[in-house]
Amino acid sequence: MYKIKKPFIQTLVGHITVESPIWLMRQAGRYLPEYRLLRNQAGSFLGLCLNSKLSSEVTLQPIRRFGFDAAIIFADILLVPYALGQKLEFLEGEGPVLEPVDNEKSLSLFKADMERVGSVFEAIGIVKEKLPASVAQIGFCGGLWSVACYMIEGQGKRGFKKALNVEQYQPEFLEQLIRILHDATFEYVCRQIEAGAEVIQIFDSWAGLLKEEKFRRWVIEPTKNLVRAIEEKYPEIPIIGFPNNATPADYRAYVNETGVDALSIDQHIPLNFARTELQIVKPLQGNLDPELLLIGGSRMKEAVENIINKLGSNHVFNLGHGVLPDTPPENVAALVKMVRDFRVSE
Ligand code: CP3
Repeated sequence: MYKIKKPFIQTLVGHITVESPIWLMRQAGRYLPEYRLLRNQAGSFLGLCLNSKLSSEVTLQPIRRFGFDAAIIFADILLVPYALGQKLEFLEGEGPVLEPVDNEKSLSLFKADMERVGSVFEAIGIVKEKLPASVAQIGFCGGLWSVACYMIEGQGKRGFKKALNVEQYQPEFLEQLIRILHDATFEYVCRQIEAGAEVIQIFDSWAGLLKEEKFRRWVIEPTKNLVRAIEEKYPEIPIIGFPNNATPADYRAYVNETGVDALSIDQHIPLNFARTELQIVKPLQGNLDPELLLIGGSRMKEAVENIINKLGSNHVFNLGHGVLPDTPPENVAALVKMVRDFRVSE
């Protein structure tokens, strides 16, 4: 099996591994000069996502520069609303802006058309041909709750007051939206797998807005249904769940109940808790604070050693969240070297 040669996949499927493969969330992006060049060529972020030649190139840039163990296709969680027909723009310095949905009539107008995002699948095919044999390709989607938050709110910069109100006072509307998102996201993920994605990560960036029963209802339940649907069709594809900013107890419920194959943890999760309560259930990915990568030096080194000492088997090295735009690329190179040197010396 060719996949066995990929350390990242081996770790995810539960082979006992003592070395941490490494990749970083948002490893392609504004901190890289070669990214900014292609981003300017494309004219806009959405234009870049929808241009398979450029987006495949952007996906490969950090692999060439740093030699990561995995490439993540360059796209966005909001391409699913876009495929459903919702108006979407990314404004400079503002982030995403969508035409908010707040009534059942607007829901009834949504119709998933994956041709609108066909370039993503094309790009996956291009990347697949160009990746080194030991590097795996990750496809991804948003958690249904987080995508619903953006769809209802219409933006992400000023918090999710409206989405939380809908959750509180119109839960049946949210149910309907989540059902639509389930079908569209499932189709989007299947198309990514058909095109060559070997692992799927579910980014539930706003999972932490909900606690306990609400977390169970809107994060765990929809994730469980999505994971089940994907695993039924593609049992060999590992799925990583990332319920960003959830409480430790909610992380534990998530890893026990959703059926994900591995869990990505943010930087707020204490390492001892991660090891004793989460890693005994599934392999972990994470959780260096992106600020420490930005700072670099001895503080980063100390944190890296601590993570590997505590989690360093059945573990994928990553950040607790995405690379920050002002991060010096040299710090990323230093991080990769540190993690790799640790492998050799252990
Ligand atoms: O990890 C990777 O390298 C793959 C690419 C990737 C992007 N977005 C590219 C991107 C991934 C995995 C995402 C996921 C995504 N998108 C999430 C989940 C992860 C997280 O950050 O919590 C969310 C919430 C989004 C929605 C989104 N896209 C926001 C809120 C923004 C604006 C914030 C920002 O950083 O500008 C984006 C834009 C975006 N997505 C950029 C990139 C590289 C920056 C756009 C640019 O280059 O101008």
